[in-house]
Amino acid sequence: MSTPGLIQLDVHLTDADADAALRADVARGLTARPKELPPKWFYDARGSELFEKITELPEYYPFRTERALLTDSVADIARSSGADTVVELGSGSSTKTRLLLDAFAAAGTLRRYVPQDVSESALRGAVDELHRDYPSLALHGVVGDFTRDLDRLPGADPGGKRMIAFLGGTIGNLLPGPRHEFLTHVRGVLAPGEQLLLGTGLATDPAVMVPAYDDAAGITAEFNRNVLYVLNRELGANFEVDAFEHVALWDAANEWIEMRLRASRDMHVRVRALDLDVRFLAGEEMATEISAKFRTEVVDEFVTAAGFEPTRRWIDPDRRFALSLLTAI
Ligand code: SAH
Ligand code: AVI
Repeated sequence: MSTPGLIQLDVHLTDADADAALRADVARGLTARPKELPPKWFYDARGSELFEKITELPEYYPFRTERALLTDSVADIARSSGADTVVELGSGSSTKTRLLLDAFAAAGTLRRYVPQDVSESALRGAVDELHRDYPSLALHGVVGDFTRDLDRLPGADPGGKRMIAFLGGTIGNLLPGPRHEFLTHVRGVLAPGEQLLLGTGLATDPAVMVPAYDDAAGITAEFNRNVLYVLNRELGANFEVDAFEHVALWDAANEWIEMRLRASRDMHVRVRALDLDVRFLAGEEMATEISAKFRTEVVDEFVTAAGFEPTRRWIDPDRRFALSLLTAI
């Protein structure tokens, strides 16, 4: 049962778990062809700060577009939802969440907010600030991996109802197979009638999408290269970070932006913790993130396949982003 004003922080992803997962991902990714690294390793404290800077860039339209959609829709969402618990996956700094919390509080139903993120630093910062600004709200932070730890999220209070928010377009960072697995899993932890609020980037003009991932100030390039600093620090690797160039391109066949790191010359990299030596050829590209942009029919298809009914949808006038309220059936 949630208690007003109580702060709880569960760590489902301990340092040892994260280390084992990082080792497994890096051993697999650096020996794959082409080489690849999963995007969740961007988000150490520096990576989370760089992401915050990205959200302020003029080119990065997804953040402010979703924020405007939320501003327009939160009152409706809160009134129709009746949830007393808002769970947020990949919550980061929980900035946009404040719009939701204010609307649910005004609707008189909100008792608890449960942010979950793989980045302990981002989560701790968010929980501290939220406690200051919402002293009577129960806060239950969960350090965890949303592809792995969903079963351990807190259940509904007796007679209560949850809404899970998955914002930012982060669903687009999952490949189609893992995306389906993830959504099916989310559906599995919800009871019929509970809801998912899903933010998705929509496919639009590449002249708008590509600069959002290749900004003039080079912040996204630093964010991309940050994963190499993480490997150097956590696994004793010796990547020469500045010898890798940031690449962002629109893959029209798959309808996703792909970020890569391109070796500017031949290099040997040693990953001490894995006893692994890896060769990069000049021009070789390593995949670091996809950010899929959807058509609304595709969103309907994949959420329906996972057991959700599309209930309401908000789209910005330029049709660059959609916010979908989905009900577990
Ligand atoms: N929801 C926020 C932040 C988006 S950035 C927004 O809309 O602005 C993506 C967030 O997801 C980061 O905070 C990152 O740490 C987190 N994240 C990435 N992969 C994750 C995973 N597998 N499990 C949990 N959190 C993850
Ligand atoms: C978190 N995620 C939705 C961001 C995106 O737009 O795909 C991550 C990001 N990558 C580069 N810029 C922002």
